[in-house]
Amino acid sequence: MKHLKIKLPHHSYSISIGQNEWKHLLTVCKKFADENQVFIITHPGLKKLYCKKIEAALASSFNIHWLTFPAGEKHKTLTTVEKLATELSKKGAHRQSLLLAFGGGVVGDITGFLASVYMRGIRCVQVPTTLLSQVDSSVGGKTGVDLSTGKNLIGRFFQPEAVVILTDVLKTLPKREFACGMAEVIKYGLIWDAKFFHFLLKNSDSIKKLNSKQITRLIYRCCEIKAMVVERDETEQNLRAILNFGHSFGHAFELIGGYNKLKHGEAVGLGMIVAAELSHLWKLSAVYHGDDIKEILKAYNLPTKTPNHKSSVIKKALMADKKSSGQNIRFVLLKGIGQVQIVSTPIERVMHGWKSLQS
Ligand code: GLY
Repeated sequence: MKHLKIKLPHHSYSISIGQNEWKHLLTVCKKFADENQVFIITHPGLKKLYCKKIEAALASSFNIHWLTFPAGEKHKTLTTVEKLATELSKKGAHRQSLLLAFGGGVVGDITGFLASVYMRGIRCVQVPTTLLSQVDSSVGGKTGVDLSTGKNLIGRFFQPEAVVILTDVLKTLPKREFACGMAEVIKYGLIWDAKFFHFLLKNSDSIKKLNSKQITRLIYRCCEIKAMVVERDETEQNLRAILNFGHSFGHAFELIGGYNKLKHGEAVGLGMIVAAELSHLWKLSAVYHGDDIKEILKAYNLPTKTPNHKSSVIKKALMADKKSSGQNIRFVLLKGIGQVQIVSTPIERVMHGWKSLQS
C-alpha cells in the first residue's frame, strides 16, 4: 500500500492507496474506533456488492451496523442526514462512535457532514468508491448537502480521520463514471503538473483498462497535489480555488441541463475547454490550449462539444454558483499546461467573452 499524509494545523491524517487491501480497513478501524462497533454508511447496491469483503475484513473484531440510503444527487439533502442521524441514535451510536463512508461523492459528503454534526462531532473515515471521489471529494474535508436553490449550499469543512482508497472497486464502476473521474484527474495535470498531463495523454489506453500500477500512480499524484493545496489553504480563502478550474462553466452547464444531461465530470471537462478559450481570448495564455484539452478529453471518452446556451441563460447559472459574489465571479484561468491563475472578474466581461466564443 502507498501512503501519504495531509498535515493541517489541528489535524493530520493519512491517505492510503492499494489494490485488494481490504484488511487495511481493520487496521484503520482499530485505530479510530473506541469500541467494537462501526457504522457504515453506503448505498444499497454498494452494500450488496461489497458487504462480504467488508465483513470478512472487519467482523472478527467489530459489530458492523449498515445504514443505507438511495443513490443519486437528489438524496444529498438535510432530510437524508436527519434520517441517518435518527437511525444512528436508535442503533446506539455515541460520541466515541466511528462512521465509515463507503461510496462516491454523495456518500462521502453526506457522511462527513453527518459526522460533523451528530452529537456535535464524531469521527469518520472515508472509503471512496468512485474515481472522482478517490482523487477529489474524499480528501480535504469539504462536506455538505444541497438545497433546492443550489448544490452544496449547506456544509462544513470537517476532516476525516483517514482516507482508504481501494483501487479494485473501480472494476465495478460504470465506464461513464470512470471517464467522469478522469476529467478531475486531467484537471490536476492542467492546474499543477504538465508532466502528469502528458503521462495521462500517452497512457490513456492502459489507464482505461485499469492498469493497476498506472491507476495507483495517478490516484497517488492527484491526492499528493490536493494535499499540498489543502495544506496551504484549508478553507479556500485563495489557492484552494484552483481546484475549481473548469467548475464555473461546468456547474452552469450541469444546472442548465437539469443535472440529468451531463454528469459532473463531463460538465467540468467542457468547463475546462471554455476556461482555456477565455484565457487565450484575454491573452493570459499566449498559446491556445483548447485543442490540447479536447484531445485528452476525447482520449478518455469525454464530450468535447460545448453547449451553445444563450448568454442570458449562462449568466443566470453562473450567478447562482457559490463562486460568484455581487457582479464579480472568481474564475480560474489557464496560463499554460500546469499553470493557472485565479482572477476576480466582472460577470459582464465573462459574458462578453462567452458571446465572442459563440460567434
Ligand atoms: N473539490 C474541490 C475542493 O475540494 O476544494
